[in-house]
Amino acid sequence: MISPKNYAKANRLLPKGFKTANEFFDHVYKDKDMIWMGQNTNHLHEDTEITEAMINSIKNRDYCKYPPPEGFPELKSLILEDLGLDDGFDILITAGGTESLFLSMEGVLDPEDNVITCDPGYLIIDNFAGRFCKHVISVPIYNEDCNYKLSPELVKQNMDGDTKLVSLVDPLNPLGSSYNKDEIKEFVDISYDQDIYLFHDITYREFARKHHLMAKFAPEQSITIYSFSKIFGMAGLRIGAVIGSPKIVDSIRTVIINDLGTNLVSQKGAIAALNSKKNWLNNIKNQTRENQKIIKKAVDQVEGTFIPVYPSDGNMLAIDMYETGIKPADVAEFLLDNKIFAREGSYTSKLFGHRYLRVSFSIPKYHVEKFASCFIDAMETLQNSP
Ligand SMILES: Cc1ncc(COP(=O)(O)O)c(C=O)c1O
Repeated sequence: MISPKNYAKANRLLPKGFKTANEFFDHVYKDKDMIWMGQNTNHLHEDTEITEAMINSIKNRDYCKYPPPEGFPELKSLILEDLGLDDGFDILITAGGTESLFLSMEGVLDPEDNVITCDPGYLIIDNFAGRFCKHVISVPIYNEDCNYKLSPELVKQNMDGDTKLVSLVDPLNPLGSSYNKDEIKEFVDISYDQDIYLFHDITYREFARKHHLMAKFAPEQSITIYSFSKIFGMAGLRIGAVIGSPKIVDSIRTVIINDLGTNLVSQKGAIAALNSKKNWLNNIKNQTRENQKIIKKAVDQVEGTFIPVYPSDGNMLAIDMYETGIKPADVAEFLLDNKIFAREGSYTSKLFGHRYLRVSFSIPKYHVEKFASCFIDAMETLQNSP
């Protein structure tokens, strides 16, 4: 008999008509008209460098060979350069931020440790941490008092002698809150004083108006999670990295699963993406920021709704609709019927998921405009339905 795992993911309510999450994702993936606002992906790239690099690699049949197991040195150096970090850091290329998260948790945690995360947040982090430590303390942060983020003060209140790691997603999925330099420095002081590791998930870094890298202030205590899925628009290519001190990365090396390396074609695309970044970055950031204003205007028209963190420093934001009495899951369903894929709050919160809908907006302007009018429609229709 195989015993059930205590960290198994909770079954979520599926949209009507789907038996499994996989079936649902296959449906949204295959529908070419679907507007993709449900997974914080980026659909704004118009460049050719990234696709050309991958097509050339495929034409050369590079993929007959295995890549270097820890990633092409060229890619490793480009990522460190992108972050402004020097050779004092070590880096592993992974199949995305997700693999980086899992490996770091296994590499750093011991069974007696506890980990501090936040709710709302990126729940798979709690899941991964829970597999390797004794207790995950998920601090409620959905309120103005803490500015909708895990503040240094909240960390102090929740840590104890067994706290080994604090997870900071910056900017935060789903709310888009981010940290200023003073807050980062306070976390750094806590980490050195208490010998706690700081997990800095910077998946949405480039969308922020300003971003401060923890690794620069706490080189020995920080672990940086890097993804090519968002600003680089390469979610389906499944590529990312984990960066830390040589000591930390050495520990992560001992738990590696994919020891024959990460997808070679994706790595070629990632190299091209970093080399061409300066050509497209501002365009994508600006378009994403302008799109956010369209959503805000629509939300302002619906009484009882508000955006807790505005402007969001990510490419997603939450729309709180608790006061209207309308359920975010019903709005998501209404939008899906109109070919707009968005996510009700329960995907990113155990405590507050009933309050908000999360939408991402690195998509063409006319798609956001369709969302804006459809959202107003949804709220009117659902308000008046029995
Ligand atoms: C905070 C955060 N970290 C990591 C990931 C996963 O990134 P990847 O696609 O690189 O696995 C996501 C995806 O949405 C995310 O929101």
